[in-house]
Amino acid sequence: MTNPLRDPQDRRLPRIPEPCALVIFGVTGDLARKKLIPAIYDLTNRGMLPSGFVVLGFARRDWGHDDFEAMAKTAAQEHARTPWREEVWGRLVGSMKFVPGAFDDDAAFDHLGRTLDELRDSHGIHGNAAFYLSIPPAAFPAVLKQLARTGMADNDKAGGWRRVVVEKPFGTDLGSARQLNDLVDDVFTGNDVFRIDHYLGKETVQNILALRFANQLFEPVWNSKYVDSVQITMAEDVGIGTRAAFYDATGTARDVLQNHLLQLLAMVAMEEPTSFDAAEIRAEKLKVLRAITLPQDVAQETVRGQYLAGWVSGERAAAYKDEEGVPPDSKTETYVAVKLGVQNRRWAGVPFYIRAGKRLPRRVTEIAVLFKKAPHLPFHPADVEMLGRNQLVVRVQPDEGVTLKFGSKVPGTAMEVRDITMDFQYGEAFTDTSPEAYERLILDVLIGDRTLFPDAAEVEQSWRVVDPLEAAWKGTTPETYRAGEWGPRAADEMLARDGRRWRRA
Ligand code: BG6
Repeated sequence: MTNPLRDPQDRRLPRIPEPCALVIFGVTGDLARKKLIPAIYDLTNRGMLPSGFVVLGFARRDWGHDDFEAMAKTAAQEHARTPWREEVWGRLVGSMKFVPGAFDDDAAFDHLGRTLDELRDSHGIHGNAAFYLSIPPAAFPAVLKQLARTGMADNDKAGGWRRVVVEKPFGTDLGSARQLNDLVDDVFTGNDVFRIDHYLGKETVQNILALRFANQLFEPVWNSKYVDSVQITMAEDVGIGTRAAFYDATGTARDVLQNHLLQLLAMVAMEEPTSFDAAEIRAEKLKVLRAITLPQDVAQETVRGQYLAGWVSGERAAAYKDEEGVPPDSKTETYVAVKLGVQNRRWAGVPFYIRAGKRLPRRVTEIAVLFKKAPHLPFHPADVEMLGRNQLVVRVQPDEGVTLKFGSKVPGTAMEVRDITMDFQYGEAFTDTSPEAYERLILDVLIGDRTLFPDAAEVEQSWRVVDPLEAAWKGTTPETYRAGEWGPRAADEMLARDGRRWRRA
């Protein structure tokens, strides 16, 4: 066994960032309260942050430190994953500061710059800081301009590293994504930009690479010779909550297909990277994204849907058009299903069926690799009537694990074969519970590890897939489905035309 103390690349060593500051713009927003602050608490609780670590909140509120502290405490108590410990909070709160200001307020940004300078001595942060843009994209230009004007984005001037974290949506189409990338690149160098796709921070998603590239068992059958089709499902039981303005302008394809789902596809379909290095992994994912082919007939091979009123998990759910803030004549989709191809030697001819939707019966994200049937079955047809396709299912959430489905003999005197499943469950196999995606991703930003962050080229390639679909859908009316159903009937018909069915997720 290698000795982790001798090998600096050995990732079993606890990875603790250098002393630094994390500046959160939009710290009073939903993302900061539900994900970022709780993740910072969890990291502190796990001892993953250095003693010289400071959180700087920036927002347009007439707040003092106490108001910020109270908000942050409630957020951490309500949403943290790890147990509440007053002494951990006490330690964290001692290194939290609030800077009030609007994004066009020069004085507020000068104040922020001075605060970072002071922290160099008071907390020994050596000028290291990451700026988290937890704000609407429309506000990016103003903040980036301020970071450039004040010199806060300048590594040399700071005498340490300066990084920026950009949340999705990365633009609304290829053109706007390019503009956004140019804007960020004008202020920060490429290596200092971290684009968050929080799906890549999920343990189960990272496990796709372990499953494929650490084992000998699966790779030989991971190709069009053995694989019939791949189904990727992201079902949510929730509706659009309070995000009507954002969601109605965005729709499911831009919200989750362009990023999370195409990233999952890329990880399932990519070739083995030459090493587990950020640049190598990104290069392989990019090749897959470039090889994606669109449906020839968008009307037949894609389905958009919008939910009507119905019942989800025993509760009455309003129709999308009746959600507060949604125009009654909205044509925005809350469900999407598409059939994509990957045009390369490994995957040519294998359909990748992808579906995502709100107000479906339950929350489940999974990737199912469905294998071809055995070329010959030496059994009586009646004995294999109940035998389906072999399947390997990566259960991304909520019941994290992997399922292998295959035929087995039913006990008894006949040779009857039926599908059974073999399960790996994270909860049973490991004692530690999985960290939240944001814990991992924030830590990686502070360490400077870009492995789990898509780069600009991946983002742009993903828009190359989604833009033509959006153009073809323009002006069309989505199909409907009742809240609590598995999407519109047209989605079942789409698979039926290919002689297939959606897996019961
Ligand atoms: C976000 C989308 O990126 O992912 C939301 O904007 C969606 O619409 C969310 O609800 C789902 O994330 P998770 O981690 O709960 O699957």
